[in-house]
Amino acid sequence: MFPPITSFARSRFCTRSVGRSWRTASSQLAVADCTNGVRSAFFGGTMMTATAAALYVVQSPGGSCRAEGAGGRFAGKVVVVTGGAGDFGRAGATAFKREGANVVLLDAAPKQLQLAETALKQVPGPEEFTVVCDITNQAQVEAAVGSIERKFGRITHLWNNAGYQGHVKPTLEYSVEDFQKVQDINVVGAFRLLQCVAKSMQKTGGGVIVNTASVAGLRGTPAMPAYVASKAAIQALTMSVAKDLAPFNIRVNAVSPALIGPGFMWDRQNQLHAESGSPYFARDPGVVAQNKLGGVPMKRLGSIDEIVKAVVFLMSEDSSYCTGTNLIVDGGMQMR
Ligand SMILES: NC(=O)c1ccc[n+]([C@@H]2O[C@H](COP(=O)([O-])OP(=O)(O)OC[C@H]3O[C@@H](n4cnc5c(N)ncnc54)[C@H](O)[C@@H]3O)[C@@H](O)[C@H]2O)c1
Repeated sequence: MFPPITSFARSRFCTRSVGRSWRTASSQLAVADCTNGVRSAFFGGTMMTATAAALYVVQSPGGSCRAEGAGGRFAGKVVVVTGGAGDFGRAGATAFKREGANVVLLDAAPKQLQLAETALKQVPGPEEFTVVCDITNQAQVEAAVGSIERKFGRITHLWNNAGYQGHVKPTLEYSVEDFQKVQDINVVGAFRLLQCVAKSMQKTGGGVIVNTASVAGLRGTPAMPAYVASKAAIQALTMSVAKDLAPFNIRVNAVSPALIGPGFMWDRQNQLHAESGSPYFARDPGVVAQNKLGGVPMKRLGSIDEIVKAVVFLMSEDSSYCTGTNLIVDGGMQMR
């Protein structure tokens, strides 16, 4: 069992590691000890081993409450977004809050999470909640889900979106350690979180889950064997889990984005592919980008907003008869 919330501190953002408070600022904070398991987390894509990683933080400015008075498709709902500090997560959180949800941002990166939370607070809508949680750590995941249940009474929706791309290297040069790390986060971590949330949903009558996969998992993008394997696993996992959870009134679908930009991620991706040494990519990132776009029937990149719209559809009652599906959002690239 995970330990109960042990203290309320005067703090907007506080980290606690095995009995040690780290930082406090302004409002009320619920803190739970999380003393078991691996003490590690990702900060800006880098594996960091530190006592900070054993932290488990829950912001709780007003005690237990539920969304009230907000309209929209998610009015009164409690939507958990993992990878909530990342590009997709932040945009999704904004959309769900605008549509009336109590949004929970969950991520392993405290600084980025704090920035995401500050931005989300500017969005009109009900109260948000922030949980620092490394999904590779069972105790942290259980504690996080417990805290959300205590805060909002239930979890109705999960965007299971946290992910790690891993190295961009051809198979013969790929590090087995990094391959393992990618699976630990993208597959085992995603399953761990999903299972814990689904147990919660089962107790309260059901829910909706969307897993973030990738078109890479369908196409076998070269020089990304770990990522490709992990996203193919998510697509398959979505089907098995959807069957298992249908009797509990829980729908589970996947979204598979590709070629999202412009911006840092798109540029970085092309640079990594260009540097990968793979014969499938040109050495010039600009040419890599051009070649990728050449394979897209719609001849343009997709926006983060277009991914979020697909996720909102899958999470909403507009997709009430969909489960086990994989919604590809790629401008037609995957068509053969
Ligand atoms: N951006 C794209 O073009 C693209 C395309 C296809 C699929 N995806 C997938 O979409 C999802 C979100 O991508 P993004 O572009 O927002 O990336 P991002 O890097 O901006 O966000 C990913 C987030 O996941 C968090 N995270 C990583 N490991 C974690 C862990 N162990 N526990 C908790 N949180 C952890 C990171 O801290 C980060 O905030 C990922 O699963 C990614 O694989 C992205």
